[in-house]
Amino acid sequence: MKAKELLKSLTLEEKIGQLVQPYGKSLLRADPETGAPMRDPLGITDEELPLIGSVLDNSICDGATGELKHFRDNLKGKVPLIAMHDVIHGCDTIFPIALGLACSFEPELMKECSYISGEEAKAHNILVAFGPMTDLVRDARWGRVMETTGEDPLVNAQMAVATVEGFHQAGVAACVKHFAAYGLVESGRDYNPVQIGERALREYFLPSYKAAIDAGADMIMTSYNTINDIPATGNRWLMKDILRDEWGFDGIIISDSGAVKEMIPHGFAKDQKEAACYAANATVDLDMSSTCYLRHLKELVEEGKVDESFVDEACLRILKLKERLGVLDNPVKYETYEDTKKAILKPEYIASAQKCAEKSAVLLKNEGVLPLSDKVKKIALIGPFADTEEILGNWICFGPKHYGKGVIKTVREAVEARVPGCEIVTVPACTWALDDETTDFAEAVAAAKDADAVVLCIGEHQLHSAEGNSRVNIGLPKGQMELARQVCAANPNTAALLFCGRPLTIVELHDICPSILCMWQPGTAGGTAAARLLFGDVNPSGKLTMTWPRAVGQCPLYYNQTRTGRPCWGMEVQKKRSMTSNYIDEFTYPLYNFGHGLSYTKFEYTDAALSADSMKAGDTLTLSVKVKNTGDREGQEVVQLYIRDMVGSVVRPIKELKNYKKITLAPGEETVVEFKITEEMLRFWRADMTFGSEAGDFTAMVGTAANGVTQHPFVLE
Ligand code: BGC
Repeated sequence: MKAKELLKSLTLEEKIGQLVQPYGKSLLRADPETGAPMRDPLGITDEELPLIGSVLDNSICDGATGELKHFRDNLKGKVPLIAMHDVIHGCDTIFPIALGLACSFEPELMKECSYISGEEAKAHNILVAFGPMTDLVRDARWGRVMETTGEDPLVNAQMAVATVEGFHQAGVAACVKHFAAYGLVESGRDYNPVQIGERALREYFLPSYKAAIDAGADMIMTSYNTINDIPATGNRWLMKDILRDEWGFDGIIISDSGAVKEMIPHGFAKDQKEAACYAANATVDLDMSSTCYLRHLKELVEEGKVDESFVDEACLRILKLKERLGVLDNPVKYETYEDTKKAILKPEYIASAQKCAEKSAVLLKNEGVLPLSDKVKKIALIGPFADTEEILGNWICFGPKHYGKGVIKTVREAVEARVPGCEIVTVPACTWALDDETTDFAEAVAAAKDADAVVLCIGEHQLHSAEGNSRVNIGLPKGQMELARQVCAANPNTAALLFCGRPLTIVELHDICPSILCMWQPGTAGGTAAARLLFGDVNPSGKLTMTWPRAVGQCPLYYNQTRTGRPCWGMEVQKKRSMTSNYIDEFTYPLYNFGHGLSYTKFEYTDAALSADSMKAGDTLTLSVKVKNTGDREGQEVVQLYIRDMVGSVVRPIKELKNYKKITLAPGEETVVEFKITEEMLRFWRADMTFGSEAGDFTAMVGTAANGVTQHPFVLE
């Protein structure tokens, strides 16, 4: 085996070099385009250069500059470099953000997106994708919710598996992240601490990472946060005891970017050497964007503080990955920009991105304005997102860098193409800046009054979510809200097309605007998808995988909370009561529940019934329900099964999603949807920290959203 042979030939320094991953820029001594000298942020010396085993930076792998070839040719190291990169919702062809795509409730689509993104990444000589990002999230203030698939352990696990499968199908390795519980950062503020009991960690947060590992994820990335006051990157209990020993993970653990050295500002390690010592002893193989390993691991081995066998094992893991991906034979898969260009942005990729954008959209509210008739004579497109390409999302990898003209259509361009005979008036009216407080909307109001229908294109800019973009105010900026007020008052035939990277608090918009269609940040084909949805060429079918709060003060808010001893029944009954677990100035229930999403048609649920009212371990109960399309157009519905364990040795959630089925029904068509209920589905981390079920009372629930279910009691004997 090449990797093993190669390992034997390496010196300790060379092995350690394989455990170091700087940005590609750190290796560039001169700007590839201008030739100007470049400063290396990490200070890697010319002597150290040939030791480096991998890079994180698209600039050096970009087919346009051929820089990877440059490195292969110029580095004198024995082991070829491998390039890794974030591929979150697309590479060149940009798909909707993950929080949007999850709303399709179609893991197959996530797989398709990852496959295509993987193929495109490969075309840039990136052979490891830093995804799936599978952190479970509950707090819309956190900017990174856009990268995740939401608040539910089942959905997250399925989407994580699909992502791994898609990357693998493309021949690209997958790196699940961020281990662990990064989505629980306090106050929704990025990089903040995480405090969590072991039961909740195992019950809700760990399953999606585990599912990705079980699906064959090649790597896992540590998270920036502390967990119960120990930085994840130096947390031996998480990395060694749980990940390696309990789960049997033998792949590569990579630190998040700079996370090893960040143990110093955390106040956990006194210097880089101690940080390296913690990370190595937690079995973190790869040090991303720091020189802690490069500069200190050798000394730590010589002093006996880190076992040399760790370096051997870590290096072998990396060499094996390189061998598996063919890097040891040929690190450069695409030699020229021409080769790269042929492999990206294929028409079928853009078509897939369009389908994904259509299936991600969630119709939050509809009082008749949508779909628009294509017979209308005059449409006003109003708002800062009416005619901009900046609706791609924040993790755009190469994004538009290699696009020719016209690849992206703005909403205006797409609507114009869809209704060529219609007069379209476009008024941006204000900017998307968070501090835009424009109040004079005379032009927009005049256009609205004069139009048969108005589409308000408003929301959150793509730069206002993702890493480092936490927000305390998650409503519409003042200017855009005032615009909505004036436009909705001017023309009642107004629909809002909402662009966002997180759930927004939009109670007022909900109250004044008859129809609201959430597009998220829909990617390359988002404009076209929006036009097709607006005119009913496709029927919205997305369902939320993250709760939309009414007010930011409700965060964290999620459907599978446990109940207090003084419930105000706020999740189900819309009432404020004192001396219960409520707020005196806001309801406890959300604006839009988990699982919510409307359609241009209507679905009626009847005859829900359980096959029996008790079961033993080994039995299967069937919950069936009749679903009928009572409207006049075809539509898709996600039928959802929830279960509540009524009494447990620990307090159990109000409900937990246990399964779902997405069905397509023609007008007037009905079908019976059946869900199997087994004892395995009733297991949880019990009071004694064993995983299993407990006999007793349960309630199965079926319906169209977390708040729209019928209840069916049964007993596990
Ligand atoms: C992010 C990771 C990402 C890494 C490399 C970090 O700042 O937290 O998600 O993979 O950068 O780009």
